Amino acid sequence: MKLLKIGMVGLGRLGKRHAENLALRCPGAKIEAACSLDPVERAWAKTRLGVEDLFEDFSAMLESADIDAVFIASSSAFHTAQTVAALKAGKHVFCEKPMGISVQECLAVEEAAEVRPNQVFMVGFVRRFDPSYRYAKEMIDAGAIGEPFLVRSQTVDLDEYAAFQVGFVPSSGGIFLDMNIHDIDLARWYLGDEVESAYAIGGSFVHPEFAQVKDADNTCALLKFASGKMADLSVSRTAFHGHDTHTEIVGTKGILKIGMTPAKNRVEIFDLHGARVPCVKDFYERFEEAFRAEAMAFVECALNGDAPIVKARDGTEATRVGFSLAESFREGRIAIVRR
Ligand code: NAI
Repeated sequence: MKLLKIGMVGLGRLGKRHAENLALRCPGAKIEAACSLDPVERAWAKTRLGVEDLFEDFSAMLESADIDAVFIASSSAFHTAQTVAALKAGKHVFCEKPMGISVQECLAVEEAAEVRPNQVFMVGFVRRFDPSYRYAKEMIDAGAIGEPFLVRSQTVDLDEYAAFQVGFVPSSGGIFLDMNIHDIDLARWYLGDEVESAYAIGGSFVHPEFAQVKDADNTCALLKFASGKMADLSVSRTAFHGHDTHTEIVGTKGILKIGMTPAKNRVEIFDLHGARVPCVKDFYERFEEAFRAEAMAFVECALNGDAPIVKARDGTEATRVGFSLAESFREGRIAIVRR
């Protein structure tokens, strides 16, 4: 069996999950080397996954490790430099979202990926690998709801993570680039069109600390696409029931609704308090299966020479819209995304 030797970059909150998926659940993948700034995380890679070739410095790993690919889950500010360096070194690259922390950075990744068609580059828009989101896309492509013209989508996190999120704002780019970017990608994917203008409002209704870092804890965004199609996207960091990502696609002949109740499983509780369902707690619990499918898709593309379904251009365009929403929110006016 062909084997893809991978250098894992970043072993934090998400990097550990990716590393476990690649090492334990993806036939054809082997984590040959790993790098993290944190010695405790490097020790984890050795004891949990048996990785021997461990680095603090990314460039050192790229130079000396025996790897075919890098899988990047480092902090967002490093994504572009690490991706471009790895592509130039002849490696296949998976890069977590965001692809860069400016549109210029994303364009640099796009350029580096485009001139190397024999290397796989894939950006981590994980929802595209969720079975329900994929099924909806197949139905839309088969004409099941006629012509789709409106996407309503939301990303909602539990309030208990808000304190952590405040600290994450400077490196993540804020609510539109960190959270809304997934909904933006879905809207582009389902509507098959590019965004022309964007408008966002929001506020720090529960946690004033977000306002202090020029961010928000709840936002609403409207996108107008070049064809006139629409998206209505919202984000909240202050939910009490669970992680609540759901999406609706409205077409000329029907509507698809995906995950409208964030149920943990099929159990329903009927008791003194009424009828209710337990909910998923965080993004990983909701998208666990999708994260594994995403990692497997990258490995298969790299081993078989197939083109990934998420391209560098998707990373650039979602980032472009995310920045326009942040600008609209800051300046209180409609932002023109493209003319
Ligand atoms: P984290 O802060 O928990 O971990 C960051 C990791 O990167 C640590 O292991 C750190 O040592 C390493 N690192 C930082 N700078 C580095 C450098 N220059 N060279 C090598 N390693 C470096 O962050 P978390 O939450 O794991 O997020 C990582 C990335 O994943 C972020 O870009 C984030 O936007 C993305 N993410 C994507 C999600 C999705 O739904 N697709 C969900 C959560 C995070």
